[in-house]
Amino acid sequence: MMNTNRIRSLQMLALGAILGGLFVSSWERPAAMAQQNTPQANPATMPADLAHLKDLIPPNSHPMVEVGMFAANLWFAGQKRNWPLANYYLNETRNRIRWEVHLNPGPKGPDGNPVDMQSIFDGIDNGTLPKVRKAIEMKDSKEFTVQYKRLLEECYSCHKAAARPYLRPMVPVSGAQPILNLDPEAAWPQ
Ligand code: HEC
Repeated sequence: MMNTNRIRSLQMLALGAILGGLFVSSWERPAAMAQQNTPQANPATMPADLAHLKDLIPPNSHPMVEVGMFAANLWFAGQKRNWPLANYYLNETRNRIRWEVHLNPGPKGPDGNPVDMQSIFDGIDNGTLPKVRKAIEMKDSKEFTVQYKRLLEECYSCHKAAARPYLRPMVPVSGAQPILNLDPEAAWPQ
């Protein structure tokens, strides 16, 4: 999962390098750079290169696809009382929500005005997320269920704020990560 972020970072670096090259070539040494005709900064191919890089960058919704997956895994880990795994998925869920806020900090709300995603995230980060974490720490299944549902309510309040009321989460019935054993007592592989 880190790969996505790493690829994106590399893409941004490459974009930066090309933009840097463009800046240098157009403002400082245009003749020299044009003669060199390096692939990093060729003004002739610049628009096409930029378009290509933009094509490579995943859409804004990408982190949220992962949030959906991790939040579902969090539920199943909690159901199996696999608390270390639940803790892992809680952290992954939180990280990806933060990434979404970073990518798309001000989507339009229902009234067309931008919505401050960071402050909505901060509310959840200081509210329900620590409560889910606490339930995991205390290994308290009942409290986990209560707080998990609150978390889903807060997911939905952000979706409504961002004019996406049709993205209504639910307690997942299926979709656990199939390659991971959720059983905390599993004995294989050693
Ligand atoms: C800070 C605001 C915010 C929070 C909190 C939030 N979301 Fe989202 N979510 C969004 C936005 C914005 C989109 C639409 C992304 C886009 O279209 O670029 C979205 C889209 C989604 C999608 C659809 C992804 C797809 O394209 O298939 C899922 C699934 C999802 N969120 C799940 C969740 C879950 C589960 C939670 C809580 C654990 C959550 N979200 C919390 C803002 C939020």
